[in-house]
Amino acid sequence: MSGQIRNIKGTKDLLPSESKLWLETESIIHNFMSLHGYSLIRTPIFEKTELFSRSIGQDTDIVNKEMYTWLDIDGTSLTLRPELTASVIRSYIQNNLGNQSPLQRVYYIDASFRRERPQKGRQRQFTQYGVEAIGSKNPEQDVEIILIASRIYQMLGIDDIEIHINSIGSKESRSQYSESLVSFLSPYKKDLSKISQKRLKTNPLRILDSKSEKDIKILEKAPLISNYLSKDDSQNFEEILNLLNNLNIKIIINEKLVRGLDYYNGMTFEILSDDIGSQSALCGGGRYDKLVEYLGGKATPAVGFAAGLERLIMILKDKQKNIISNNIDIYIISLDEKSISYSFAIADKLRNTLGIKVVCETLRRSMKSQLREANKNNSKFTILVGENEINNERVTIKNMEDGTQTEAPIDEIENYFGVDYEYK
Ligand code: HAM
Repeated sequence: MSGQIRNIKGTKDLLPSESKLWLETESIIHNFMSLHGYSLIRTPIFEKTELFSRSIGQDTDIVNKEMYTWLDIDGTSLTLRPELTASVIRSYIQNNLGNQSPLQRVYYIDASFRRERPQKGRQRQFTQYGVEAIGSKNPEQDVEIILIASRIYQMLGIDDIEIHINSIGSKESRSQYSESLVSFLSPYKKDLSKISQKRLKTNPLRILDSKSEKDIKILEKAPLISNYLSKDDSQNFEEILNLLNNLNIKIIINEKLVRGLDYYNGMTFEILSDDIGSQSALCGGGRYDKLVEYLGGKATPAVGFAAGLERLIMILKDKQKNIISNNIDIYIISLDEKSISYSFAIADKLRNTLGIKVVCETLRRSMKSQLREANKNNSKFTILVGENEINNERVTIKNMEDGTQTEAPIDEIENYFGVDYEYK
């Protein structure tokens, strides 16, 4: 069989033209997390299916129809992770991280897999960065999570975001609320969208998240979750809102915000942006105080968030195209075959002594084409190496920004680019 083999639908290659932006963004995220006292955690890309079905919930879209699941040779059902919270908690329990410290602050940047219908901002393999703070039940921990999630966007110059927040209370409050939502909606059942009709039985709270205009209209007069919260839950939510207000973090209370994963209780939030089209969620998270216990650990409160890196980068690309560029410092132009080894030696020396970005020609193109290549890469300087230069042991250096040329001895070339020049 011959023919071209293409990538799998909903997956993407990270091409060289984009990798710089990705690396820079990832490096900003790593620094940002470390600034807040969070340590990196990496868990395997696949786990036992049960880990996800138990934590995310049997009646969720993710578990029902979006997981990549297969039977291993020994009959164990395995799944490519659709998110990282469940894996992080599995690791937390298994490695007794709770014994090491009463509060674990961890973060991740990793691939996740969901078999969704691909569209702009929605892929089948995507990257999530996120944090989990495991051990504190207090409102300041919720606020720290929202602060980290939202400040990243601001730091990157993305201001037009909305932070939607809600409290979905305890399991008991939720089941009472769910009952009254079902009694409210049942008379309208026939008018609801197909998916909401189904959810009326399987997961009524998810109806609140419906995008159908008809459903939205019917929901206008639906009961509100805030009326079903316990005194403790309401007070806790109030404290979170006060702390956010003191930090000048603008939020929108959205009582229709229900998350697509079952492990949440109390505060939930999402950060939305119009800039990414219909997939407006940049990030989502909340409190999940029962998950550690539910997965076999000691009862431990936890809160966290995860955000789509592709969605963030999509906005960065739209807004700040020129900020993160592919600049190189020096392009070395070799004028003939004999010059190549000189060029390589010069490049090697400059990189090693000065730590700057130097690229050598390896296509043996004409001088004009090499200059064009240097320009394309926004090279700050070019160094010309040819027969004359080798004979005189001096190379010609061209400043590509102002067009000036000068000569420097090959042996001392690093001094020319030493202290007087800024490369970044
Ligand atoms: P989630 O809302 O399912 O939450 O996903 C978080 C973010 O991942 C979304 O807001 C979105 O930006 C991105 N995302 C989700 N699916 C896709 C996709 N198919 N393509 C591209 N981006 C996508 C969680 O996963 C929870 N684990 C968050 C969390 C952490 N809660 C507590 N801790």
